[in-house]
Amino acid sequence: MSHASMKDVAALAGVSIGTVSNVLNRPDLVRSVTRRKVETAIAELGFVPNGSARQLKAGRSRFVAYVALDAANPFFTDVARGVEETIRQHGLSLFLCDSDQDPEREDEYLRDLAELRARGVLITAVDPTNPRIAHLLRRGIPLVFVDRLMRGGPPEWCAVGVDDVEGGDLAVEHLVERGHRRIAFIGGPITIPQVADRQSGAERAIARAGLGGEALTVIPTVGLTFADGRQAGEKLMGIPLRRRPTAAFCANDLVAVGLLQHLTQHGVGVPDDMAIVGYDDIEYAAAAAVPLSSVAQPRHELGRTAARLLLDEAERGSDHVHEQVVFSPQLVARASTATKS
Ligand code: RIB
Repeated sequence: MSHASMKDVAALAGVSIGTVSNVLNRPDLVRSVTRRKVETAIAELGFVPNGSARQLKAGRSRFVAYVALDAANPFFTDVARGVEETIRQHGLSLFLCDSDQDPEREDEYLRDLAELRARGVLITAVDPTNPRIAHLLRRGIPLVFVDRLMRGGPPEWCAVGVDDVEGGDLAVEHLVERGHRRIAFIGGPITIPQVADRQSGAERAIARAGLGGEALTVIPTVGLTFADGRQAGEKLMGIPLRRRPTAAFCANDLVAVGLLQHLTQHGVGVPDDMAIVGYDDIEYAAAAAVPLSSVAQPRHELGRTAARLLLDEAERGSDHVHEQVVFSPQLVARASTATKS
């Protein structure tokens, strides 16, 4: 590995160190004949520019970070793909950071991204009130909230999300139309705004159908993973048959797949004994042993839109106008809610 410095390159090319720096960071400022001399010297010496130092010196890094809530959930990696599709068109790289729903880990990422002067940060926040978020903005690093809408007042920053109340309503309306009158809502913790909104939508559909509150059985979960779905299946099947729901709306597809796994392993027929609707419509939903009905979120579009808003703020600075973009969910009906023939 060459240890040649910028000084060695400048000496060999017969130019100043500033010219070498411009060739690396602002080649448009350097005459082509001079640029070629510097590039030849770099090649001969095998000089490797220190990327982070170069980035920091130029004051603008070449990467965008997405701090996701759970990289094990394909919802977030699908969103990240949409982000990457847009930022690569601008010659930027994507760093995916997994907070794993841990506020301390999220805080560490936000600290490091400020130090590395990320070109911008996208975040599905564990703690939207983390003061480091405002700190990033003070350092001129734009930030966009993904899949978390800011409620009330003019937006202090951009956000993209989906109308999850509408999504919950669609899921339960679909089950009511399929003849179900006792429905379980499975999801948690209720402190996650998306879970609370999906439950609210479910309650709205139950009320609109003229069913009493007892028509909806809420089974809270600790998280939104396969394991949470399996554990919820245990509780659901523990309800006496005369009161047991005949259908379950799960707060996301991982929970729905976990529930399907538990029911199948215990000889419970889906949809005949228990219909299931999930949320997100990730690939696992359609590929499940019994293809799952699910409320689809436009994951790639969420990522592309968030990236567009971020780059607009990065490039236009104070001329940028913050936006909150809300997408509508769509129900995708599959075998897990098919009516008995
Ligand atoms: O964070 C868990 C869930 O919230 C994901 O499955 C997705 O639905 C997101 O909105």
